[in-house]
This record gives sequence, structure tokens and C-alpha cells, in this order.
Amino acid sequence: RMPEDTTQDIIFVTCTAPVNIAVVKYWGKRDEDLILPINSSLSVTLHQDQLKSTTTVACSARFKEDRIWLNGKEENINQPRLQSCLREIRRLVRKRRSNRDPGADVLSLSHKVHICSENNFPTAAGLASSAAGYACLVYTLSRLLSVEGELSTIARQGSGSACRSMYGGFVQWHMGMRADGKDSVAEQVEPESHWPELRVLVLVVSAERKPVGSTAGMQTSVDTSSLLKHRAEAVVPGRMDEMIQAIRKRDFSTFGELTMKDSNQFHATCLDTYPPIFYLNDVSRRVIGLVHRYNRHYRETRVAYTFDAGPNAVIYTLQPYVSEFVQVVKHFFPPETNGEELFYQVIKLCCERSLREILPLPPCRAQPGPGPRMVEDTSLHLLGPDGLPR
Ligand code: DP6
Repeated sequence: RMPEDTTQDIIFVTCTAPVNIAVVKYWGKRDEDLILPINSSLSVTLHQDQLKSTTTVACSARFKEDRIWLNGKEENINQPRLQSCLREIRRLVRKRRSNRDPGADVLSLSHKVHICSENNFPTAAGLASSAAGYACLVYTLSRLLSVEGELSTIARQGSGSACRSMYGGFVQWHMGMRADGKDSVAEQVEPESHWPELRVLVLVVSAERKPVGSTAGMQTSVDTSSLLKHRAEAVVPGRMDEMIQAIRKRDFSTFGELTMKDSNQFHATCLDTYPPIFYLNDVSRRVIGLVHRYNRHYRETRVAYTFDAGPNAVIYTLQPYVSEFVQVVKHFFPPETNGEELFYQVIKLCCERSLREILPLPPCRAQPGPGPRMVEDTSLHLLGPDGLPR
């Protein structure tokens, strides 16, 4: 048992979690509260050297209430999705406590937490920030409170796509059949080491916020698009199998073709939504055209695009083709350096009247990466010794 005065102490844990980019898209829920999808999906977890969320959670008997700061600003802790994650983690603590020595839990359930989270990329850029953020929150809480178990079902209740960021490499999210969502879990298909030649480039077409968020957008699609229903029932199940086979065989041509077709079908369901939703813009469509011309030139699928709920292109390719394709992009979207923040491996395209690329490119290393992890260096905590943001 811990001596009484340690309850005055604050315990800190800091973790990081990755972004993931789907190659078979999740779009549409069958349960809004539990966040249960109408189809399974599959993604690649991006390496945290480039894009990541970092979260520090502090826990203390001193804290009067749960609090959260996101990218430096205090946010409302009572948002239902945050509350779901906190509630589910605390439920796991309670379950473990009833199984084991009740005295083993120094971190009492009644202790409040302070959460501080930031992304190393602009939230507005529409780069799966909620996925990395919720995965990081759930993972950090689980390490702080030493709970184990099916954590992806908890991250899922923060943001659907977040469940896939709980693992590295190639990850599928099984839609599940149960009404309580217990079988709607993420599972690693292959680890990040499986396909070392695979590369990911993010072409930032616009850093503006999307006009229609994913949550609202997919809700309208479920209500109005018959194409979405067809996709979920008749297309995705077979496509999941084909995609998993292509990944297992490291068959880029099939992987790339399925990725592009799935992105196109997702955006077609957006257009089939009433009123329609447009995520792609003219620059996105020019990138699509360029990829197809490039592949046609080599009579081979060497490069594939995919777009989420925004205009930014994510390019999958193989290591030998990266530098040439980057040059092709620079040629058609001529560069102009303008002191904006640098992304690693992220090609930033600026869309005003003509399209201009901003970056001198650092070496392209963006590739599949590992899942969430703990940061051992205590100087990297985002919360100071008083439990408030540094
Ligand atoms: C287009 O996970 O952001 O990126 O569950 O409502 O939080 P909520 O939605 P979210 O949707 C992501 C949709 C997507 C496709 C994907 O990542 O699979």
C-alpha cells in the first residue's frame, strides 16, 4: 500500500500515436453513439517521424475536475465523445480492480485527470487529426491507469477511424455485427516491417477546414445515398479480401488500383448524397489526372492516390519511384518557397490562382510505421509539475 502523502503527488504519462490513411474507406454509421460503421475498412498507419499526436495525462487527488487542453487551448471536457472514452477506460479500471487486489490501485477512480494534447501538423489540414488524437488519448490513459484489454473499441468511441491508429502497419477495422459494438474492433493485418518499400506522400492542396465534417457528412450519406448502401453491402466485403491479399503479396499494382477505386467510390457516394458533398477541388482532380497519366506512361500502376473528407491527396508509391514522381509533381505544380512551416515528407501545394509548391523536399522516408508508444523522456511532458500546460 502507498503511504498517505503520495496521494498529494501527480503522476504523469506521455505517449504519441500515429495518423492512419484508409485504402478501404469508412463512411457511414449504423450506430451514432457507439460509432459502429456500416462497412469494414482498412488503413496504413503512417510513421510517427513525420506526423503524430502527443498527449500527456496527469492524474492526482489534488485535481478538482477533469480538464483538457488541445493544441494549447482549453476545451470542453464534457463533449460526449471525450466522456465516452473516459468512462470506458474507467470501466476497465473498475473491472480490473474487482478481479485483483483492490489496494493495488494507487490511482483511485475518483482521481481526476488533466489531459494535454497536440499534433505536429495543422489540425485544419484535414489529416486524420481526430484519429491520431483519440488513439493517443486512449493509449495514454491506458498506460497511466495500467489497463489492458480491447482498447480499439474505446478509441472507436472517440472517432471511428481512431480505432485503426491503435496499431502499426496495415490495419483492418472489422465492422462487427453486435449491437453493443464489442466485435467492432481493429486488428493488425501485417506489421509495418512487412512492406518496407511502400512510401506515402501527402500533397497538401489546401489547409482550409473542410466545409462538411466527416460526422455530419456520413450521416447525410447514410440517410440519402443508395450508392452508399450498395457499396457497403456489395462492394466493400469483396474489396477487403482483395486488399488484404494484395498487401500480403506486396502486390502494388493491385493495392494501388483498389486504393484509387475505393477513394473514387467514396467520393461518388458523396456526390450521390443529397444535397451533394464535394470534398475534391480542381487541384485534387488535376492530381488524379497526373497519377493516371504517369501510370499510363509506364503501363504499370506505380503511384496511387486517395482522398479523405478534404481536397488533400495522399499518394502511395514504392521507394524507387518517389523521387521521379516528386519531380513530376513539382513540374506540374511549380515550386515557390515562402517560409511556411515545413513538413517532413509532406509536399505542400498552395492553391491560389495557379498552383504552387512551397517546400524544398527533405528526403522522402514516409512509410508504414508502428502504433502508439510511450515517451520515456519526462522533459517531453506537455504538462508542467503543477499539472497545467507548460
Ligand atoms: C473519410 O473517423 O473522422 O477519413 O467516426 O464521425 O469521427 P467519425 O468520423 P471519422 O471519419 C473518417 C472518414 C474518412 C475515411 C476513413 O478514414 O476511413
